[in-house]
Amino acid sequence: MLHVVIAEAEVELVPAKIARHPVIKKEAARRRKKPEAMLLDSSVHHAAMRSLTDGKRRGRPDIAHYTLLALLESPLNKQGMLRCYLHTRNDEVIFINPETRLPRACQRFRGLMEKLFAEGKITSGEVMLLEMKRMGIAQLVRNIGSEHVVLLSEDGREAEPWELAAKLVSKRNPCVIIGGFPSGGFRGDYSFAHERISIFPSPLAAWSVAAEVVSSYRRCIADAKTQP
Ligand SMILES: C[S@@+](CC[C@H](N)C(=O)[O-])C[C@H]1O[C@@H](n2cnc3c(N)ncnc32)[C@H](O)[C@@H]1O
Repeated sequence: MLHVVIAEAEVELVPAKIARHPVIKKEAARRRKKPEAMLLDSSVHHAAMRSLTDGKRRGRPDIAHYTLLALLESPLNKQGMLRCYLHTRNDEVIFINPETRLPRACQRFRGLMEKLFAEGKITSGEVMLLEMKRMGIAQLVRNIGSEHVVLLSEDGREAEPWELAAKLVSKRNPCVIIGGFPSGGFRGDYSFAHERISIFPSPLAAWSVAAEVVSSYRRCIADAKTQP
């Protein structure tokens, strides 16, 4: 079972500091929501975000959305061999049932995240689909109980995705961490990771990295099964 964590994802509610900005108030009135109950989204709120610390990298639920779609729709997930987690910049972790079907439309994903922030969980009947807990990434990785943790980063040691996958399949509960932010480096302490690996000589989008990793991992497992 491969565990993939999207780390430091830029997914958060509108911070109080900008809740009274005209751009935010206008959208809140249009959507009939409280400003602080809306998801921060740089594609709509960029004018209000200039005064925020790290304003240029925040408000990117699209990155989490596309990356989760790439993971949840992957053959590896459909074969029951993948677990994904979304860790946010404010140390919340979203636990994702692998059978969750996320909305494709950005607006509907935004609405789903807002409901999750408000209620802490999304269920379908008795089944928990998404659950949010307050938790740092080190604690999450400890709970996963991984024998090998890989931080994927542009500045890591270069390795082909298949080399990485070959190592991962030989470990118990391997865990791969991908940044859920648009630019810059990881902000937290990842000294618990066993390796820092780059799978391509230039920066890639998080969803592209996720797709490479899960497809290489699946191919490695398939190759191992067909070898005499
Ligand atoms: C858009 S990038 C963030 C940009 C940042 N300059 C970085 O450190 O890669 C989002 C995430 O994708 C992964 N990523 C991007 N390019 C990569 C590469 N060449 N090799 C491994 N991971 C990569 C990293 O986990 C990164 O945090």
